[in-house]
Amino acid sequence: MIVLAYFCLLMDQLIEQIEQYKKEINQFTNGDVKAVENFRIKWLGTKGVVKNLMGEMRNVPVDRKKEFGQILNDFKILVENKFEELKKATSDQQPKTSARIDLSLPGDALPLGSRHPVSLMRNRIVSIFQRLGFALAEGPEIEDDWHNFTALNMPEFHPARDMQDTFYVQQNPDWLLRTHTSNVQIREMEKGKLPIRGIYPGRVYRNETVSARSHCFFHQVEGLYIDENVSFADLKQTLYFFVKEMYGTDVKVRFRPSFFPFTEPSAEMDISCTLCKGAGCSVCKHTGWLEILGCGMVHPNVLQNCSIDPNKYTGFAFGMGIERPALLKYGINDIRLFSENDVRFLRQFTSAI
Ligand code: DAH
Repeated sequence: MIVLAYFCLLMDQLIEQIEQYKKEINQFTNGDVKAVENFRIKWLGTKGVVKNLMGEMRNVPVDRKKEFGQILNDFKILVENKFEELKKATSDQQPKTSARIDLSLPGDALPLGSRHPVSLMRNRIVSIFQRLGFALAEGPEIEDDWHNFTALNMPEFHPARDMQDTFYVQQNPDWLLRTHTSNVQIREMEKGKLPIRGIYPGRVYRNETVSARSHCFFHQVEGLYIDENVSFADLKQTLYFFVKEMYGTDVKVRFRPSFFPFTEPSAEMDISCTLCKGAGCSVCKHTGWLEILGCGMVHPNVLQNCSIDPNKYTGFAFGMGIERPALLKYGINDIRLFSENDVRFLRQFTSAI
């Protein structure tokens, strides 16, 4: 009797749900994607009405299962069909043409920045040496006396210090703004890992009057190669390769004996003037030659200062400015343009790589 009473209750529930369904479906607004999804969840979801009633099947007495199952199944099919119909109606209503993206339309051009001419020149120089196996490294711009002078064989009161007018840091007389990138040589050698083959670009500072030709800060690239049996011939071959890659095969090269405290022997390297091809013009001051860099064999004292045995190791070093070759390459006549950040000037390098 109890079983039968429960069955009646279930049957009532089923009929009631069917009535409810009919009512809801009459008020349904077509084309509402969200409403269709809610419909699916409520009636066909895993915790939905149909699933729930299906679960009750096991409580239906055996002799009534067929009757109850038939009604429930018909109801299920009705709901499923309705759902498919609603789904189709919403997708039919989606605007088909207006929402499509036309990929063939030209895009809006993004404003393009450009590399600074000094960066362009630095990258060119560095990448030539990288192709020869030189590894890129950098050092600090605020340096101590040891790394900028003393370790480079320029002890206190050495006259060579006067060649470079130095900015000192007020708070600490041992600190200064590096006057050249040669400080990175020392820092790399002090690391104690040999052999060394490095290329070190960076900004340097000197207390000089600012004019079209000179500035109180500029950029250099330093090169260093330390190993057993490194000779002056290696230095020359390396720099010949650099000149060929940088300025072309028809450019002539010459080495002039020179003096730097940190190299012995020392030299300065000139190339034939890229503008007048050696005939003489105002850029090369009518000599036909342009001074490009300083170089030499690393002084034994410098090696010793960095705990490298000069009887076992030798090496060469070189240092060159970046601004001058950049002036030449881009035909610029005032070095101050490099640091004034005038976009009319900088914008002209957009296409340069
Ligand atoms: N440090 C020198 C300067 O600023 C340039 C230089 C010359 C660097 C000779 C070197 C070198 O490494 O061997 O004028």
